[in-house]
Amino acid sequence: MQLINPNTSERLTLRENHLIDETGKEFELVSGAYRFVEPENYTSNFGFQWNKFGDLQVDTLSGSGITSERFFKATKWTPAQLKGKIVLEAGCGAGRFTSVILNETEAELYSFDYSDSVSANYRMNGPNDRLHLFQASIYEMPFAEDSFDYIFCFGVLQFTPDPISSLQSLIKVLKPGGQLVVDFFPKKGWWTKIHAKYILRPYTSKLSNERLLKVIENNIDWLMKTYRFFSRLGLNRAVNRFLPICDIDNTIPKGLAKEKLRQWVVLDTFNMLSPAFDNPLKMEEVIDTFRKGGLSEIEGEVVPYSGGQNHVSVVRGIK
Ligand SMILES: C[S@@+](CC[C@H](N)C(=O)[O-])C[C@H]1O[C@@H](n2cnc3c(N)ncnc32)[C@H](O)[C@@H]1O
Repeated sequence: MQLINPNTSERLTLRENHLIDETGKEFELVSGAYRFVEPENYTSNFGFQWNKFGDLQVDTLSGSGITSERFFKATKWTPAQLKGKIVLEAGCGAGRFTSVILNETEAELYSFDYSDSVSANYRMNGPNDRLHLFQASIYEMPFAEDSFDYIFCFGVLQFTPDPISSLQSLIKVLKPGGQLVVDFFPKKGWWTKIHAKYILRPYTSKLSNERLLKVIENNIDWLMKTYRFFSRLGLNRAVNRFLPICDIDNTIPKGLAKEKLRQWVVLDTFNMLSPAFDNPLKMEEVIDTFRKGGLSEIEGEVVPYSGGQNHVSVVRGIK
């Protein structure tokens, strides 16, 4: 694997606790991750949420198996296929998928995120000889072109300022013959954006992380009760979309203990109201970007997981 300075494409070599290029530019290893960007940027909300709630969604701690199921169903990859392969995880967050790859496959994993969530990921999954962590942007990755056998990017594209160009960046670092799988928030029509999060996010994303979390914590109990009331009446899709709370029925795993469920709802509601960007995508535009990027055997589908309760829109292809 050839690491590069993303700004100049100069090759990097490893020296003790940093990477260095031929001009002497250094990138430090901090809390288990090489740092290529300023610590604070438009993803600081994610750094905050994952350092606070990172444990919650990791299968090995929640005992749910939901992330593993989602990963293997969405990718259609098998542990045997990934053995010894070079895999890239784009936008790793606190590392729930990192944990699946390290624990259930023998792949060599490169994971990055633009936020300081990489610190949470390292606390959860490091140190591990097969894990290489970077704080870097999808637009300026420290990897040479044609580097990876497999790339996945889950829960990320919609939160980048330009999802199509994010996809094009990923295609560049995929090896010819390599496989790419992404998921995304689906844009189904004009009504997709008639939703509390698209109405409120321009304001809520400007609150400090601490303030927004406090507002959510203070209101989550009545919001959950109201959500359940309309859900029981069969009005989830029609009415609950106007409530500033995550879609509990369709996104949260079933069977969580009461306090875990509350925390999970707080996290997903923060995740919904805090991002600087939220750009849903049409399935056809993702497929079209794969095609224009030279990928073949392209498949786009909505994948059910968690007993059919949860769904994710996925596109797969081979370069
Ligand atoms: C909802 S989280 C998903 C994290 C993880 N994939 C998961 O499913 O748990 C979205 C992640 O995308 C990251 N992200 C947003 N823009 C990015 C960019 N330009 N480059 C890399 N990561 C980015 C955020 O920092 C955040 O951790």
